Amino acid sequence: MVEGNLVLRDIQEKDVAGLLALYPHWNRSLAEKRIRRTLFSVRERRVVAELNGQIVGHVKITYGSGVHSHLARVYSVIVSKNFRGKGIASKLMEKAISELLQGIEIVLLETQHDNASAIHLFEKLGFEQYGVLERAWKKGTEYKNNVLYRKVLR
Ligand SMILES: CC(C)(COP(=O)(O)OP(=O)(O)OC[C@H]1O[C@@H](n2cnc3c(N)ncnc32)[C@H](O)[C@@H]1OP(=O)(O)O)[C@@H](O)C(=O)NCCC(=O)NCCS
Repeated sequence: MVEGNLVLRDIQEKDVAGLLALYPHWNRSLAEKRIRRTLFSVRERRVVAELNGQIVGHVKITYGSGVHSHLARVYSVIVSKNFRGKGIASKLMEKAISELLQGIEIVLLETQHDNASAIHLFEKLGFEQYGVLERAWKKGTEYKNNVLYRKVLR
């Protein structure tokens, strides 16, 4: 359980630095551009978890358009290392999924096949595996598969 004041809310301009700190391996200027884009986008939503004033978690949702406007995707769910295992990602995901735009029928996401905590989280929230994208990840000569998940809402 989380001790302290946990607030889950939409990202604001003041959160950019705190959010970037969750992704130290990212290219900073590119990441900042992408995060700022959300502030003005109707097809993207970022929910942050703020614990005692510190950004400790994040999830991004994107919405399809045209013939894909019934689809939403979850990206980049992350919780700061020191605050994992306290239910923060579960709460972020539950909020984001319960507040999807009207008309969304299917939520999609994917994760690396060896990401045990993410797989546990998604299956606990009712996502079902519908496929595997082989060699989705490559570093040097090493490959990893991604597991593809969906949650059918209606
Ligand atoms: C995946 C991640 C977001 C989970 O965040 P979290 O706040 O620790 O998740 P929660 O505390 O809500 O736990 C979710 C469930 O996963 C379980 N879990 C946590 N770590 C686990 C592990 N290593 N192996 C198996 N299950 C695990 C928890 O027990 C919990 O299940 P329960 O409610 O049945 O007990 C976090 O580990 C993280 O940021 N990882 C790095 C980024 C990442 O890989 N994101 C996913 C990319 S798609």
